[in-house]
Amino acid sequence: MDVVIARERELGEIVADEIATLIDARPDAVLGLATGSSPLRIYDAVAQRVRDGELTLARARGFMLDEYVGLPPGHPCRYSTVIDEDFVSRVDFAPGAVRGPDGDAADLTRACADYEDSIREAGGVDLQILGIGTDGHIAFNEPGSSLASRTRVKTLTAQTRTDNARFFGGDIDAVPYHCLTQGLGTIMDARHIMLVATGDAKAEAVAHLVEGPVSARWPATILQHHPRVSVLVDDAAASRLA
Ligand code: F6R
Repeated sequence: MDVVIARERELGEIVADEIATLIDARPDAVLGLATGSSPLRIYDAVAQRVRDGELTLARARGFMLDEYVGLPPGHPCRYSTVIDEDFVSRVDFAPGAVRGPDGDAADLTRACADYEDSIREAGGVDLQILGIGTDGHIAFNEPGSSLASRTRVKTLTAQTRTDNARFFGGDIDAVPYHCLTQGLGTIMDARHIMLVATGDAKAEAVAHLVEGPVSARWPATILQHHPRVSVLVDDAAASRLA
């Protein structure tokens, strides 16, 4: 596990460099896309390069990590809408090249199995972008998640619903109770993982991730067993590292 401490803007450029190198070598590479605040600088940097004609994602594909249950297509807080606004609409993916688990499916268990199949059929994820929750979750694998889990339905913790209420106009009652999420085992199958965390609120989770024992209590710690992980943090998020 490599740990890089830099300013937030630089962190975005570092991951964008890695994406550019990957796409150069393999234009049809598969990217794993996180939603939320943490990857925004990455998406800004990649979008800028696409606008400048330095990079194209025309043959690349993307798989999202997770989705809320019960938000219909087009809902402003549905992660498929959010990733479209934050990233997909700003670059040149082919139509349909970015997929997410369908949190509005009639059969959620089936939707999870289909999602696992579609990642496998695409050849797996080459580069997975991750954020981390204040409670140490990655994707929506909350504390207590099986370290070998696959895509499935999960209940969001009160902490995560509180953290994410800001995306729902501050109204915690509007935040769904359930989600579909790639499992920790699914994420661990990615060939390269880059996790970005910024700000004081992430410092405890980052300290566990990098220095703590591997435990379902802090799900991100499973990444210590991955052969190729980069943890990119600013000074505040690094402040509790020894
Ligand atoms: C989002 C996701 C979550 C977030 C995490 C951090 O797809 O899977 O694990 O990465 O909740 O969220 P932010 O970046 O908003 O602090």
